[in-house]
Amino acid sequence: MANKMWGGRFTSKTDALLEDLNASIKYDYRLAIQDIDGSIAHATMLAECSIIKREESKKIIDGLKKIRSEILAENFEFKIELEDIHMNIESRLTEIIGPVAGKLHTARSRNDQVATDMKLYLIKKNRYLASLINSCQIALAEQALENYATFMPGYTHLQIAQPITFGHHLLSYVESLNRDKQRLHDTLKRLNESPLGAAALAGTSYPIDRHMTAKLLGFDKPMANSIDAVSSRDLVLETLSNLAIISINLSRLAEEITLWMSSEFNFIKLPDSLTTGSSIMPQKRNPDGAEIIRSKTGRIIGSLNTLLIVLKGLPLSYSKDLQEDKEPLFDALDTTEISLKVMSLMIKNMIPNKQVMLEASKKGYSIATDIADILVQTLDIPFRETHKIVGEIVAYAEDKKLTLDELTLKDFQQIDDRITNDIVNKISFDAIIQNKTSFGGTAPENVRKEAENWLKLLKK
Ligand code: ARG
Repeated sequence: MANKMWGGRFTSKTDALLEDLNASIKYDYRLAIQDIDGSIAHATMLAECSIIKREESKKIIDGLKKIRSEILAENFEFKIELEDIHMNIESRLTEIIGPVAGKLHTARSRNDQVATDMKLYLIKKNRYLASLINSCQIALAEQALENYATFMPGYTHLQIAQPITFGHHLLSYVESLNRDKQRLHDTLKRLNESPLGAAALAGTSYPIDRHMTAKLLGFDKPMANSIDAVSSRDLVLETLSNLAIISINLSRLAEEITLWMSSEFNFIKLPDSLTTGSSIMPQKRNPDGAEIIRSKTGRIIGSLNTLLIVLKGLPLSYSKDLQEDKEPLFDALDTTEISLKVMSLMIKNMIPNKQVMLEASKKGYSIATDIADILVQTLDIPFRETHKIVGEIVAYAEDKKLTLDELTLKDFQQIDDRITNDIVNKISFDAIIQNKTSFGGTAPENVRKEAENWLKLLKK
């Protein structure tokens, strides 16, 4: 026998292989709650608009609520022969309330139904992700506050550039994650229009009220064009690109954690619970969490690519291809969620090796630029010229195997006799960092205030 829901003109059963390829229930069971919410709104509206009787609507809604409890109690049997979540629920509704269940699908198609389900799901997930980002930001800002005066080398080209504070470095991620969070909120602004009532693609001749269903489901208004309502998946794409950008940020931080954990850097320690061992090398403690987060980015970007390619060149309106929006989205959401959670844990629990970081920050002639600045300020000569003088000082120090703050007045005067004792006294590693008070700079006092401000904002 052919599928009950659409089998009217069919004489034989769907081939099992096609059924397997075509069915989405293996993954779209995740839309069950949204599907029921959408159906309840639709059934409510059908009665309000006198398209079905009130008792019929009530029976349908009661049945849908019963199904919701069955699903929440994990007491619902999803059947592959019923293809997708929509037909699984409708079929169960028929079992519970009989043929009147068939009235639910009046003035509706699975095309507007699935578009509505997906939007409701995206709204829920965008909000949840924003809260996970917020927690990760709190972990970063708390570490930043603890380490507002912990010195470390700042890098450009992965070469030691200038000393910074560890807190400043961590707050940099708070900023970029904040833009990620804002992007999710921006997407939410565009998720405010309901596809429901677009029917298959053309709208319907029933006197439905799309504004009512939109309002019942928490949307601001219905989508204005019924074709757009069933065809567009740009908001799924937009969410996937948000996820891809989040994962890029996480992956850069994960890469740094991996570097910092290496014995060459030795900047941080992670507790046993957040590292793993090697089955052959007993001494190893591996930052697997960070490595996996770094690599999952490939998978998330892959999901974005998958949907971009599915949509490319697809004619309007609905095509079954659109069903392929789900697996990439669900997978990218799962992956980003767990990555954010593990990243928060690693940030919260990492222990900086302050002494090692301090010593490293003095390597690489990291205060060379600052000495050039001091010469500009004290000798009133142009920066380009002091840059050259300090270049020579660095070469001299390198030759003598000394760090810049180990050089004496006599050493400096070998290079330029205008350098006085007063000037040499200004060359203090501590003072150089304390003085980076420009807006957004690394001075510990700046960092402390920034971390406090962030924590106030994030914990609101
Ligand atoms: N499972 C389908 C999807 O996710 C639901 C819509 C099916 N519509 C159709 N006309 N076959 O896209």
